[in-house]
Amino acid sequence: MKGPRLSYWSRTTDSLPLTAQLLPFFAMRALLLLFLSSLLCLASAQNQALMDYLERRLLAIEDRISTWHDQTGRYASELREFKQQMVGLLENMDKDKDALRTELSGVGTRVERVEREMDYLETQNGAQPCVDVDEKLVEQEVTVVKEKNKAKYAKLTDCRDMISSIKAMKILKRVGGAKGMWTKDTGSSSSKVYIFNGTSDSTLYEFRSIRDFSASLGMSRGKPIELPHPWGGSGHTVYNGYAYYVREGKEFQVIKYDLQNGTVVDSAVFPAQDQLPVYSLNPETHIDLAADEEGLWAIYATRENERNICLAKMDPDTLDIEQTWDTPCPRENAEAAFVICGTVYVVYNTKLPSRSRVQCVFDVSDMVTTDDAPLVYFPKRYGAHSSLKYNPLEQLIYAWDDGYQILYKLAMKKKLEV
Ligand SMILES: *[C@@H]1O[C@H](CO)[C@@H](O)[C@H](O)[C@H]1NC(C)=O
Ligand SMILES: *[C@@H]1O[C@H](CO)[C@@H](O)[C@H](O)[C@H]1NC(C)=O
Repeated sequence: MKGPRLSYWSRTTDSLPLTAQLLPFFAMRALLLLFLSSLLCLASAQNQALMDYLERRLLAIEDRISTWHDQTGRYASELREFKQQMVGLLENMDKDKDALRTELSGVGTRVERVEREMDYLETQNGAQPCVDVDEKLVEQEVTVVKEKNKAKYAKLTDCRDMISSIKAMKILKRVGGAKGMWTKDTGSSSSKVYIFNGTSDSTLYEFRSIRDFSASLGMSRGKPIELPHPWGGSGHTVYNGYAYYVREGKEFQVIKYDLQNGTVVDSAVFPAQDQLPVYSLNPETHIDLAADEEGLWAIYATRENERNICLAKMDPDTLDIEQTWDTPCPRENAEAAFVICGTVYVVYNTKLPSRSRVQCVFDVSDMVTTDDAPLVYFPKRYGAHSSLKYNPLEQLIYAWDDGYQILYKLAMKKKLEV
């Protein structure tokens, strides 16, 4: 029975209609389609997700970009504001600076005005200190003064010039320290210039001319001259080819040094006792040697007459002291002095340097007194003069002012006959 059933079955199978036979195929196809479409669906869903994801990221990035944009914009505008503020501040500062400057210049003019007023007041009472001392001298020391000043001075020349004003000034150079002295040869027409830097040294510098000196870098063009002894103070002079300088030790010695052949020609102990600094504002200088039309002079001070300055006429050949005088000019606040035609002009200043002025005059031939002499003011300067050296041939003063080498051109007038 097994057989026919089987065959039946096979027969049965065989006997099925075609459609019925194709049914599984359709089903399969549908299934496949379903599967594929679902697969496709799935893929597109995945795609969508991806797209969505990407879109979200892009949006996020866009967001961030736009925030960043905003922020940079904000920063930029903040920066702009800051810049504007700064510009405003700077402008204000500029305005403030201008205001300060005008204020300062206002103060400057006020100071100048005060100074002028003081100058004026001083012109009104200028000769006071000298007159005071003069009267005291007349009261107390009349005999001494008369004794000392008794001998009439026999003039060597007929020069009758006296200073009337300072016509011009020229600042030549700044070389060396605060104190020093510079000069030409005061007794010859040599063009050489000599620089004594400092108040205690032994090397002076010789320049061929003023032009050479002003063109020199420091002392580079100068010829160093080594003196056998150091000088003291700034009261030296150069006269007729010799340097006359003061050597300080137990006593004060005047040395005469030949600048041509480099030898000490003569030396002499200065005969005054108990010497004091001659100018209170330049305490290093005890003896100030000066040369004028008449020759060589020494300006000094001693304890014997400690308030006032003394004057001596020296023989330039032998260094002898020929005659001495007590001048009425006080040492107090004196800065320097120079001699023109036998008249000493003492220059005064204040401890805090202001303007130097000739405030006491002493003439060995009694033709000029402080009362007759004009109150001569020096132009505004840097500090204080440490030396003033008159040159009779040029009528110039060679000044050393806080390291600056200055020339003052003098206007002269004639002394009145007595
Ligand atoms: C001048 O002298 C001062 C001291 O007074 C010193 O310091 C300076 O170096 C000197 N200058 C020259 C150029 O010799
Ligand atoms: C130098 O010159 C002086 C004159 O000023 C003279 O007396 C002296 O003998 C000279 N010395 C030398 C070494 O030439």
